[in-house]
Amino acid sequence: MIMIRTVPTQPFEGQVPGTSGLRKKVRVFQQANYAENFIQSVFDAVRPEAGATLVIGGDGRFLNRTVIQQAIRIAAANGYGRVLVGRGGILSTPAASHLIRLNRASGGLILSASHNPGGPDEDFGIKYNIANGGPAPEGVTGAIHARTLEIDRWLTVDTPDVDLDTPGTVAVAGMAVTVVDPVADYADLMETLFDFAAIRAAVAGGFTMRFDAMSAVTGPYAIEILENRLGFARGTVVNGVPLEDFGGHHPDPNMIHAKPLFDLMMGPDAPDLGAASDGDGDRNLIIGRGRFVTPSDSLAMLAANMHVAPGYRAGLKGIARSMPTSAAADRVAAALGIACYETPTGWKFFGNLLDAGMATICGEESAGTGSDHVREKDGLWAVLLWLNILAVRGISVDALAREHWARFGRNYYARHDYEGIDSGAANTLMAELKDKLPTLAGASFGPLSVQAADSFSYTDPVDHSVSSNQGLRVIFADGSRIVFRLSGTGTQGATLRVYLERYEPASGALDAETSAMLADLIAAAGTIAGITRHTGRTAPDVIT
Ligand code: G6P
Ligand code: ZN
Repeated sequence: MIMIRTVPTQPFEGQVPGTSGLRKKVRVFQQANYAENFIQSVFDAVRPEAGATLVIGGDGRFLNRTVIQQAIRIAAANGYGRVLVGRGGILSTPAASHLIRLNRASGGLILSASHNPGGPDEDFGIKYNIANGGPAPEGVTGAIHARTLEIDRWLTVDTPDVDLDTPGTVAVAGMAVTVVDPVADYADLMETLFDFAAIRAAVAGGFTMRFDAMSAVTGPYAIEILENRLGFARGTVVNGVPLEDFGGHHPDPNMIHAKPLFDLMMGPDAPDLGAASDGDGDRNLIIGRGRFVTPSDSLAMLAANMHVAPGYRAGLKGIARSMPTSAAADRVAAALGIACYETPTGWKFFGNLLDAGMATICGEESAGTGSDHVREKDGLWAVLLWLNILAVRGISVDALAREHWARFGRNYYARHDYEGIDSGAANTLMAELKDKLPTLAGASFGPLSVQAADSFSYTDPVDHSVSSNQGLRVIFADGSRIVFRLSGTGTQGATLRVYLERYEPASGALDAETSAMLADLIAAAGTIAGITRHTGRTAPDVIT
């Protein structure tokens, strides 16, 4: 007889699963009932069939193990039959997605705040993924949020903590809990997609790289795949041990937070490839010797070359990118004669396209790239695809980039972030700008004249659901573009993102400074949105 205990509770305001799950400060999650309410609301909303399988794992940040133990007990009390949990509580987001699919789980709980810092004073997060392995779509997250507002009890069982460090299966109030190797199945999947022999041969021939795991989840994955299976020298993976506070850093693979890697790649001792991934392993940073590749360009360059990898030899069904991502991939799609879909920000919007076989590769300006192999973006996958292409083609990152631009032209691109601004001011800025959009066509800002301006709205071609208010776009006569959007992933105040893009044809200046090429657009963005007037800021905090 299994004793299910009912714990009375009261709703918490603000348990809104944002772009990528519920993200809050650790202190918020540490309030009695806070995490439990949310997890119970997930189960109440998705109503698992009796005996269903649930995958649980996280990026190893502070609170990971505590919340996993609670989630296991709540799952047992809610009728799950089996939980698969990564050893040490570790599962990268793409590995969790793969495990859900591989084991036909009904879903999974991924505990992460992605690239946000970790530790007692930093961030934590809980995300629910559905049976296809992808983030819950808005219908599900909406139901979860609605449930958090009326919840009055959560269910648990009084069982001791599971030993998360010992592989094997134990029973928790009749539910089987299996502690699995977090890396093995994922690494095996990568071997089916990529030409490991070609990469090994390149490594034997002197190809070198550095992978910065940023003291986050990808360390064990990268060491197994890059060093053990592909033969890169020991020490190729740096910061390879997952730490609860990521060593005090932001595990965000960009030029600011991965500066040591960036500096190495721009210096005289650069290896052939520099790469990094974020807290939960779904983002990627790619830098060649002396050549930074923007995520938007990376998507386009991978799409143009990925047929050399065994998993993609049949060609691409389509390409998908988020709206603020540059249109570089659109040109590749046109050349390949396939569709290119433009979705709102957030990986979940790719799920239907991937499930329907309409897209093979997807990418976002926020350093996310992935394919139909899982239903999340996948940092190491992108690194391996780059490695596969470079190894087979015997070309450097820089040469590949130049070749690409000489064929397709170049979409100069940057994103300016204004972080931690007052939420009220940010909302006013966006509201004023939205009101002004209909009046902008024909207006001039320096040498730029506005052709069109709108608020991006997306109709999913598969289920026809509509997502409106997904960013404000100002498009200029020369094809340049500015997009304004408020971040959906921050935990403090608001972050204004300004995305700047200018297309230069193949006959134009292909190797100019990005900031110089975008100077007119940057000035126009400030004027159009009144950034300084609303925020008091005169410069962005981060440029990616
Ligand atoms: C997460 C999601 C991405 C999305 C990004 C946007 O990383 O997984 O799919 O692109 O958030 O974040 P933002 O802060 O711009 O809303
Ligand atoms: Zn992430």
